[in-house]
Amino acid sequence: MEDDALLTEQMAYYDDGAVEYDRQYTEYEQLRKLLTVVDDLPITGDVLELACGTGRWTALLAARAHSVTAVDASAEMVAIARARAASPKVRFVRADLFEWEPPRRYDTVFFAFWLSHVPPARLPDFWRTLAAALAPGGRAIFVDDGPSVAAQEEVLADRTVPVAMRRLDDGSQYRIVKVFHDPRTLTEDLTSLGWSARVRPVAGHFVGVAEPPSNGAQAVARS
Ligand SMILES: C[S@@+](CC[C@H](N)C(=O)[O-])C[C@H]1O[C@@H](n2cnc3c(N)ncnc32)[C@H](O)[C@@H]1O
Repeated sequence: MEDDALLTEQMAYYDDGAVEYDRQYTEYEQLRKLLTVVDDLPITGDVLELACGTGRWTALLAARAHSVTAVDASAEMVAIARARAASPKVRFVRADLFEWEPPRRYDTVFFAFWLSHVPPARLPDFWRTLAAALAPGGRAIFVDDGPSVAAQEEVLADRTVPVAMRRLDDGSQYRIVKVFHDPRTLTEDLTSLGWSARVRPVAGHFVGVAEPPSNGAQAVARS
């Protein structure tokens, strides 16, 4: 796909910047507060966490789950997450999520600040893969930046794939995919794919809980 180079640069940004990543959780109280939404979310059973990063959410998920399988492409991120969320309940997998296929089904698939990094053209496949990874009665639960956060980013105009620029302390620059989903539009998009979704805004961010289509509905959504 034409966005391959962008996704490689996005992976490099997070790998190279892993040691700087946690600073935002120290600096932004709003982000720390957002972590508490986990307490009210239906996190149950065996949980698959996509793009676990430094494990900020992983540790909280582990407290609620039977098990957590946390996946991230960055070796540096996974090393930090391993130290933070060490538990017999948690298993880490280093993998590129655009290649990796879940080997089993999970009761919950959770992802924080990952959906915004999935190029729009890949979203139907992304949601299809998630639906296939959920056990009967399972749910996808997600947290991300809403449209108002775009004002704090250096967004590049006129791109087929929405792109933002990020810089690390050493001055290096990277392009990343950054889609600021609007909660209402996201709900409509998921509904058109056959999902049953509730996405609510939370202080500039959004929190979503979604159930996949039944097999019949999925077939209709695909056609
Ligand atoms: C915005 S961070 C989110 C981290 C964590 N979920 C959080 O909310 O703090 C995005 C994460 O996606 C990971 N990532 C980027 N590209 C990836 C890919 N292709 N496959 C798997 N993980 C990827 C990065 O390494 C990074 O940890």
